[in-house]
Formats: sequence, C-alpha cells, structure tokens
Amino acid sequence: MGTALIILAAGQGTRMNSDLPKVLHPLGGEPLLVHALAAGAALSPERVIVVTGHGGDDVARVARDWDPELRVVQQAEQLGTGHAVLQAAADLADFSGDAVVLYGDTPFVSPETLENLAAARASHDIVVLGFEARDPARYGRLLVEGDQLTRIVEYKDATNAERAITLCNSGVVAAKASVLMELVAALGNENAAGEYYLTDIVDLARARGLSATVVRCDEAETLGINTRAELANAEAAFQTRTRAMALADGVTLVAPDTVQFAQDTVIGRDAVIEPYVVFGPGVTIESGARIRSFSHLEGCHVSRGAVIGPFARLRPGAELSEDVHVGNFVEIKNAQVAEGAKINHLTYVGDASIGARTNIGAGTITCNYDGVSKHRTTIGSGVFVGSNTMFIAPVSVGDNAMTATGTIVTQDVPAGALAVGRAEQVNKPGLAVRLMDKLRAAKARAGKGQ
Ligand code: UD1
Ligand code: CA
Repeated sequence: MGTALIILAAGQGTRMNSDLPKVLHPLGGEPLLVHALAAGAALSPERVIVVTGHGGDDVARVARDWDPELRVVQQAEQLGTGHAVLQAAADLADFSGDAVVLYGDTPFVSPETLENLAAARASHDIVVLGFEARDPARYGRLLVEGDQLTRIVEYKDATNAERAITLCNSGVVAAKASVLMELVAALGNENAAGEYYLTDIVDLARARGLSATVVRCDEAETLGINTRAELANAEAAFQTRTRAMALADGVTLVAPDTVQFAQDTVIGRDAVIEPYVVFGPGVTIESGARIRSFSHLEGCHVSRGAVIGPFARLRPGAELSEDVHVGNFVEIKNAQVAEGAKINHLTYVGDASIGARTNIGAGTITCNYDGVSKHRTTIGSGVFVGSNTMFIAPVSVGDNAMTATGTIVTQDVPAGALAVGRAEQVNKPGLAVRLMDKLRAAKARAGKGQ
C-alpha cells in the first residue's frame, strides 16, 4: 500500500520580510524544505508531492535536487492549507495507501514521531500530530474528548476559553489518501482568515462518522518557522542538538558553543575541533584530524592526521589526504592535496593537484582564472615551491622539482628541474646612503620655505 508524502511549501511567509520564499531560508546550511523532505524520508514514501506557490520555480528546483522523481504541483493562489493539500488530488487519484501531510516550514519532526503517527492509523481514520506548547501563541488548538480529537480551532477563530488550551496543532496529518482528498474537497472558507483550513477536516470527518485522534510529540519537533526570530531560534536549537551528537560520537569540541555545524557535517571519532570553526554544507572530517580555530570549511574532505588552520578556508572540492598541513590564511578550492603535503602560510590553491610531501612556500598563488576560463595547475610529489611563486595556469610541475622564490611560472617545469623566473638583482655600492641624504636635504629645504 505504501505512503504518499504531501509537503506544503506554497506560502509566501510574509512575516519573514524577505524576497526569498520562506521554505528556502537555510537552517544548518540547508533550505527548510530539505529538512522537511529529509524528515519525511523516515516513512520511505512511495510518492512525494511538493505543493509550491510563491517562488515556485526556485522551490521546485531545490525539491528536485533532493529527489528528481518527486512531483511538484503549483498552487496558483494561496487559499489556505486545505486548498494546498487539494492540489495533490490528481497525483493521488490512483493511490490506495495513506497520505501524510508535512509543512515545508516545520523542519524537526523526528522519524520516531512519524512512525507513531503511522501506527495510530491502525485504530483511527485521521491522525493529527499535536504538542503541549509552553507558549501556544498563534498555533491552532486541539479539542479532545478521551482519545478522540473532536475539532481543531485556529487561533484567529478561537474563543478565549479555547485560546487557554495548550494542546496545539503541528500541522502534520495522516489519513487514507482517498479519504483526505474527499475531505479537503468538501472544505469551506467561512472563517476569520477566509481560507480553506486543512484543520477543518476533523469536523467534516466526524460528521461522516470517521474517527480522529492526536499523537503527541515534543514541542521542539513541531517548531514552525514564520519569522526571522523563529528561524534564529530554530538554528540555535539545531546547533545545540548537533553539537551534543558530535560529542556523543567521540568528537572533541574544545568550546562547543562556538562551533557551527551544517545538516550533513560528518566528523570522525577523536577528531579535534578547536573554538570558532564554521562547517558549511558537504564537509567530512576523518578520525584524528584537527581543525584549528577560526577556520571555515564547506564541500571538502579532510583525512586522518591532517591539521587545518588556524584561519584556513577550505572551499568546495578541496580534498586533503592524510597528514596534510594547511596553515593560516590559506584558501583551497577544487584541489586534491596528496598525503603529507604542506601549505602552511598565505596561499591560494584553486583548480590544482598537489603531490605527496610537496611543500608550498608562503605567498604562493595558483593563478587559475584568466578572466574568462578557469585553468588547472598540476604539481608533482616531493616538489619544493619557493615563497611567492605564481603559477600561471594551465601549467604543470614534475616530481622533485623546485621553484625559486618569487618565480612566475609560465611554462611547465620538468621533473627534477629548478625554475627561476625573476628579475636579476643589481647592487649599487653606497647608493642607499647618498639617496637618503638627498631626500632629507630636500625635505629640510621645503620646511624652511614655509
Ligand atoms: C498552521 C495550522 C495551525 C498550526 C500551525 C503549525 C491551518 C489552517 N493552521 O497555521 O493549526 O498550529 O500551522 O505550524 O492549517 N501553505 C500552502 N498554501 C497555502 C497556505 C499555506 O502551501 O495556501 C503552506 C505554507 O507554505 C506552510 C504551511 O502550509 O509551509 C503552513 O502554513 P502557514 O500559513 O504557516 O500556517 P499557520 O498559520 O502557521
Ligand atoms: Ca506556519
């Protein structure tokens, strides 16, 4: 039978005060929508339908990046959450299993909770995920009698007595797909917002003799993001949880509160992360590597025994093998650095490969961009690159070669060769002293003249 997932992601998110669609705002380096899709993956859905509206093309692109097979339907006008679910009707016409509705702005629903939700379907037609809210604010309130959910009332429509209820609606709903579609097709919009509320299906279902119930979860899982402040709180909650997981996994975080993780950061046991390190998306750090303070990493791989930073920047495609050393003010992008190579100070390595045990001197730059195209620099193993070498790519350097300090490398350097490409030095005896005397005399004359 299987499960279909419907993700609502059409809302403009007016209260975010942003040009970016709400569900594309990042949390832990990934759009909120990706968190919702990842949460839903716990149900191993047979079909995924994302309902888009505001910024639909951009939202669809992010959704298809996550899963090229998922279906995207456009909700042309945002007439409410119930109307949004109805947009999935055509895609579910032939579907005999259950449908679960998730919101694109609710990123933290856990796999266990979704399993509990699915299990409760065995005894009830409609299952709604609810939570006890410390501050129920504008959430919809759940009205229950025993194990029956009798009604959901939106904050805007609630009486004062109903607003005092602290059991709130998360928005997550499970039902047989065909039943859900019949119910959302029958919704009206006579309410304070003039919207087709998904929440009203409970009333309709009970009028038809169907049963509804609530599955409860922790409030932290149902955090819905409507404002920048809520997004910042969610980010803080995400970071706190991720740091705790890293510590439990055997990673040393010297000052956990200062380390920023992404959703997909992977760090091996006994790696050491010093204070003030930022991980963007796509980072893997092997066991025993050390990331020193104030380093910024994204889309890169750091192998066992490597030491990075302080003040290093690893950008997408940086692949560092075992025991590589990368020091302060070094930037590495789209480059493979073989085992034991050292790039210790003030260097840019982009679109390059660097062989084993090669030493890159301070101030070296791979000049990879000619203003139109990017070009590669290939450096062999055991090479000694003198300080302030410029590699004008495309260029390659053979094994065990050297470059003299200050060399501008415009031609390939054969293995074992020393490349020297700099202006020859000329010493003028006594000229420094004579020049200084002349300059001081000129300054003194100018001072008297004033
Ligand atoms: C909704 C619930 C409320 C619940 C809260 C939990 C309704 C009527 N209310 O309120 O009971 O406590 O979520 O966070 O369901 N969306 C669409 N199309 C629309 C309208 C909304 O796709 O026409 C999407 C939004 O992009 C968002 C989600 O549905 O991802 C929820 O919409 P939102 O407007 O944030 O609902 P709330 O007012 O928060
Ligand atoms: Ca919301």
